[in-house]
Amino acid sequence: MQRIPEPELMNDFAQARAYAMADFEEPHSHFIELFKEQFPESFDDAALDLGCGSGDITVRLAEVFPQCRIYGVDGANRMLQFARNRIDHLMLHERIKLIHALLPDVDLPLKRFNTIISNSLLHHLDSPAMLWQMVNDYSQSGSRIFMMDLMRPESREQAEKMVRKYSDSEPDILKEDFFNSLLAAYRVDEVEAQLKDAGLDYLTVKAVSDRHLVIYGTRP
Ligand SMILES: C[S@@+](CC[C@H](N)C(=O)[O-])C[C@H]1O[C@@H](n2cnc3c(N)ncnc32)[C@H](O)[C@@H]1O
Repeated sequence: MQRIPEPELMNDFAQARAYAMADFEEPHSHFIELFKEQFPESFDDAALDLGCGSGDITVRLAEVFPQCRIYGVDGANRMLQFARNRIDHLMLHERIKLIHALLPDVDLPLKRFNTIISNSLLHHLDSPAMLWQMVNDYSQSGSRIFMMDLMRPESREQAEKMVRKYSDSEPDILKEDFFNSLLAAYRVDEVEAQLKDAGLDYLTVKAVSDRHLVIYGTRP
């Protein structure tokens, strides 16, 4: 099945609210578990979270690595508002700073990061080269890169099945969002080709569930 793009930013209030309220316990705890498996050592400097959205992954990473700081960047203010509420509620505002910016145009407080993460940003991008260029620009030798995203199924029917299986109890707007995201997602071979073009062959791409892939590695 051919990729069908979806809009980059999640600026619609109902969409942002449904996403922020959704139950992502399974995939998001899987993200953290796999990150820790790859990079078990604690760190106390700043991480960069690209497309942080409503901040669930950002907060989970901050909780698991209590010494670190995180800069979360997103282009949708609607999503960032939910992230701000979450961060304030957990009193993490000293450690997590949110930046509103349409990537790749962002003014970051650091030139390089030792940890760069991202969850579910890649499938929003029609020009994924932009994301890989950011990884090149903002990492340095030893930087840890870890990203997770959806993986496009073989057919619309399979995508529909996944929506029923994994989001049946969620509101319709979230189901629709999930379906569109599955259709917009890249496949392992496509991501590998993107990484090769970007000179990021040191990163590994791997399917980790029926609908998720991860991209990870340490910059040589
Ligand atoms: C599916 S959400 C994922 C949010 C969060 N990482 C999570 O896992 O819960 C994707 C986010 O990427 C943001 N986004 C997409 N394209 C972007 C761009 N070019 N610059 C900044 N943010 C972008 C959207 O606004 C949205 O909040």
